[in-house]
Amino acid sequence: MNDNTLPSRKRDHVELVATADVGFRTITPGFDRIRLDYVALPELNFEDITTTCEVFGRQVQFPVVIASMTGGYEEATKINADLAAVCRDMNIGLGVGSMRAAITDERHRRSFSITREVAPNGLLLANIGIVQCIEQRNLGKGALRGFIARIVDMIEANALYIHINALQELLQPEGEPRFRGALDTLVDVVDVCNVPVVVKEVGAGIGHRTMTQLRDAGVRHVDVAGAGGTSWAGVEILRRDDRADVEELWDVGIPTVDCLIASRQFAKDSGMHLYASGGIRSGTDIAKSLVLGATATSAARPVLKALREGGAEAAIALLQQWELRLRQWMFITGSATIDDLRSASYSHL
Ligand SMILES: Cc1cc2nc3c(=O)[nH]c(=O)nc-3n(C[C@H](O)[C@H](O)[C@H](O)COP(=O)(O)O)c2cc1C
Repeated sequence: MNDNTLPSRKRDHVELVATADVGFRTITPGFDRIRLDYVALPELNFEDITTTCEVFGRQVQFPVVIASMTGGYEEATKINADLAAVCRDMNIGLGVGSMRAAITDERHRRSFSITREVAPNGLLLANIGIVQCIEQRNLGKGALRGFIARIVDMIEANALYIHINALQELLQPEGEPRFRGALDTLVDVVDVCNVPVVVKEVGAGIGHRTMTQLRDAGVRHVDVAGAGGTSWAGVEILRRDDRADVEELWDVGIPTVDCLIASRQFAKDSGMHLYASGGIRSGTDIAKSLVLGATATSAARPVLKALREGGAEAAIALLQQWELRLRQWMFITGSATIDDLRSASYSHL
């Protein structure tokens, strides 16, 4: 791959997500199928409620991480700086986009490291694809160790996302659908990485079968990144010349709520932490995700759109609205803390 391809692809992604209709067409994340049980006598004052909690060793204002999006091309430095400022001001987490571009070209480092400059005490998550990890491991475990350390150190990350994205690699015009060795690679990534490793999809979901494989590989943190929000198959299909041939794969994936329900008990029994993303669009979706067992939640596209349309102020306003709605749900489910909310009851419609 030549040097220009990767930055221009990352630019394409941000432009398409911000301007084109790249949502799922027939699948919703499933939050409309969950009804939280109302508690008429909560034994709480509204001001008693606290949304603060610990995520990867950092105290955050409420359990939200702006999902991994970008980096690796010139304009991405400004986007990541703005996102980091939003996270710093809101005291929530931020995942940067895939850091592959900064490994292949030093000039792109700052588009990622700017996040630590802006949010010196923030919760920051590094990001790299499993395919790049497999390639490094094929060079030897020492190469993988050095690769992971460079990525984590670049932003002094509190945790590392490894994205697993078979569908996206399959449909991406420049994609590399080569996943053989992925599980052995994950065993080694967990071994060499000095911060928690979080395996995530990119919006097609991690089902129960994959969860069991991840458990066996020693992975302790999984963001299900389910279907119903941004369709990455859709984004890549829009970048292809033969769209009509592959259009029927646009809506492939497991809805976020189905992923959570399928793996909740298993995760608990296995000492794993589940995280929810994919189609989270409100404080109500955040509350429902936590009730369904998520440790924390993430959203990508709505935050990017708010930032593009109204700058950091608009992104902060959106997140404040989500925080308020979460707090309201905590009151009417009788939950003084996020831990209380996790044991609130619900019906599955
Ligand atoms: C512009 C954009 C770029 C993204 N790039 C990455 C990436 O580099 N690595 C990754 O793991 N996920 C990436 N994602 C996926 C998101 O982290 C998230 O899993 C997915 O978009 C579903 O969340 P949503 O429905 O809230 O958008 C990207 C998402 C967006 C919107």
